[in-house]
Amino acid sequence: MLNTGEPDFPSPDNVRLAGIGAILANQTRYTALDGTPALKAAIRRKFLRENGLTFSDAEISVGAGAKQVLFNILMATLNPGDEVIVPLPCWTSYLDMVRLAGGVPVSVSCPEEAGFRLAATALRDVVTERTRWLLLNSPSNPTGAIYSREHLQALGTVLRDVPHVGVISDDIYEHVRYNNGQFATMAAVCPDLRPRIVIVNGVSKAYSMTGWRIGYAAAPAGMIAAMAVVQSQCSSNPCSISQVAAIEALDGPQDSVAEHCRHFRQRRDMIVDLLNAVPDVRCACPDGAFYAFADVRTLLARQVVRERGITDDMALCQYFLNECHVAVVPGSCFGAEGYMRLSYASSEDMIARALARMTTGVRRLLAP
Ligand SMILES: Cc1ncc(COP(=O)(O)O)c(C=O)c1O
Repeated sequence: MLNTGEPDFPSPDNVRLAGIGAILANQTRYTALDGTPALKAAIRRKFLRENGLTFSDAEISVGAGAKQVLFNILMATLNPGDEVIVPLPCWTSYLDMVRLAGGVPVSVSCPEEAGFRLAATALRDVVTERTRWLLLNSPSNPTGAIYSREHLQALGTVLRDVPHVGVISDDIYEHVRYNNGQFATMAAVCPDLRPRIVIVNGVSKAYSMTGWRIGYAAAPAGMIAAMAVVQSQCSSNPCSISQVAAIEALDGPQDSVAEHCRHFRQRRDMIVDLLNAVPDVRCACPDGAFYAFADVRTLLARQVVRERGITDDMALCQYFLNECHVAVVPGSCFGAEGYMRLSYASSEDMIARALARMTTGVRRLLAP
């Protein structure tokens, strides 16, 4: 199974023990609506330590995962017909979340030749009077692409001319990077734009804590207050026990973050090599996150493959599932036809077995 977007490592021991401690200490009641003061303080320390950004408690919101936090932002800010610029390929949930909140997603294809990143000129072309947000995700799910400081500065130059446009910066994969460079986030790169930037982050990917459901946002106090109104009527506070565990994750030893990243890097190198050895498949080396985004357009253009009814990435992934028993996600789900996403947040053994099966499957398809 190479389709899921979650690390296969257990949550770190200190985090699990903190969760057990919270239960034993009866920290099992409602908490403050959008996060306890103790967790907000830990999040503020994280932003200062890792991003050089200072926030007050009123500028922090905690929800049940980055997903809920993103949803709160969109629900709190979009009027019917407001537009949200979403560079493609993008995480599957963005477009539907925008629609659910009454907005209109304006997707902009960012081809592989452009590094799967939104060019400043492309941004300028799609901004309208109705644009409310630009939604950035770096490192990206599904491509692993990372926006450099310089690239964000170029986008910032465009944004300075359009003061009605805000930026949602989804930094959830901040800690899963192989580029050795410093992580760049818009609020740190363009401090003058901070009043219209919301940073979204969480503990799911960095600390293998997907099931605990803790995500957070940092934004101007007015935005945080509006998000709290949404959260108060749908879920109230995030899990009290998970909040205690998240404090330990953020404040405790960070060794596991680097260690997991080392494993991901090995797996990335392995899966990229194996993919490039599959006939007619090509995969560039991603800089971050834990997904390989492979180009299968050459394979799909082959007459023998098309004659077997496999004419798009959906059909190809269905073939891999039915005939090879390997689950991968079609690029179309992320707005990039002709690609497929393989998660390498699985063991090396699993990756090797899956790729061996896929290679055999492709050879079978190409056989005359
Ligand atoms: C780009 C992106 N943003 C946000 C999320 C949501 O993360 P969480 O588990 O904190 O809700 C995911 C999860 O897959 C993701 O890929």
